[in-house]
Amino acid sequence: MDNIYLVGFMGSGKSTVGKELAYKLNRELIDMDYTIEQKQGKTIKEIFESEGEEAFRQLETNLVIELQDQKGKIISTGGGVVMRQENVDAMKAGGKVIFLHAKEEQLFKFLKYDKKRPLLQGDDYKDKIRSLLAKRESFYMNAADMIIQCTGKNIQEITREIMDLL
Ligand code: S3P
Repeated sequence: MDNIYLVGFMGSGKSTVGKELAYKLNRELIDMDYTIEQKQGKTIKEIFESEGEEAFRQLETNLVIELQDQKGKIISTGGGVVMRQENVDAMKAGGKVIFLHAKEEQLFKFLKYDKKRPLLQGDDYKDKIRSLLAKRESFYMNAADMIIQCTGKNIQEITREIMDLL
């Protein structure tokens, strides 16, 4: 059975939708950021601070390659996973990739008080979101087997749409 990978920008709801989808489909959930934190014994923020972003990206790649041999898992990824083609290849080999698309305004709202995401800290978080979104949009599209428009929808609605598409 294929894995289901949820990709999308930070704050688009990958982890929450992943939990709901895993529950509804009675499948195991693997949250990549959480798994990396458990393996390293550090938060993502601490990994960025002590080892740098590249080191985190390598941990992410190692994990996504490891997960491609799993069967039938729901996998919520980190927002930057689509930036390496080898990660996209590993996801495609392991299953179906679903892009949770959320509009900028919704992301601003969700991410306003975020303290955990190293790439968004500072008063200029809106500029950071805007510039990352502009860089990444095409990478999400390139990775996606299916796209779900999430803006203005609740978790149940999004989960239902995904289940209808599977
Ligand atoms: C990142 C997204 C984060 C986490 C890290 C980097 C990114 O995951 O992997 O902070 O580059 O978009 P979420 O998308 O779950 O916030």
